Amino acid sequence: MLIAPSILAADFARLGEAAAAAEAAGADWLHLDVMDGHFVPNLTFGPPVIAALRAHCGLPFDVHLMVERPERLIPEYLRAGADSITVHAEACPQLHRTLGWIREQGGRAGVALNPGTGVEALEYVAGCLDVVLVLTVNPGFGGQSFLPEALPKIAAVRALLDRHGSRAEVEVDGGITAENIARVRELGATVAVAGTSVYGHADGALAGVRALREALR
Ligand code: DX5
Ligand code: ZN
Repeated sequence: MLIAPSILAADFARLGEAAAAAEAAGADWLHLDVMDGHFVPNLTFGPPVIAALRAHCGLPFDVHLMVERPERLIPEYLRAGADSITVHAEACPQLHRTLGWIREQGGRAGVALNPGTGVEALEYVAGCLDVVLVLTVNPGFGGQSFLPEALPKIAAVRALLDRHGSRAEVEVDGGITAENIARVRELGATVAVAGTSVYGHADGALAGVRALREALR
């Protein structure tokens, strides 16, 4: 399973160090939560900050756009160093077209589903997807508790993708800890985003990633 630390839980005054720490800890991707204060009730950072982090971290940048109408921003995020761009199904009136644009411009295309959004949103875009991100909390903030009602959805997403012959990653995001990471993998998740359990770990990010790997053994 791939582990993607989310710098949302890091010290925002020391983001470069936090990004470097994820790589030093042996993480697989760096998860970057972009919030616009409209789609979610919080604001984080945008392309200039992501571009600045590139010098500190060689991991693939997994950009999660919690923004309205994300299609306007795709070229800027790719230029800033994004490897995958995940947009919210709820924020895209032209989801199929937006995913196509991400791929045409060289990115890996992802769709995120809020806890209240059904898997049927994926039915007609399964062929355009590299990543499905299942929100296991309501997006906007780190440090929230995992919503157990998301568990059957992870399996439903995997089944839908398999039915379409898609090898897209199934990414879980929100409240992932050493206590629940093995369970989400069992249900078909292949990427785990972890903010608080990595950057909030009492012994630092390295220990946080190690604890998640241990739990998967
Ligand atoms: C939630 C974000 C998550 C968040 C996860 O809005 O999409 O990526 O950083 O943080 P934790 O792991 O603390 O729940
Ligand atoms: Zn996220």
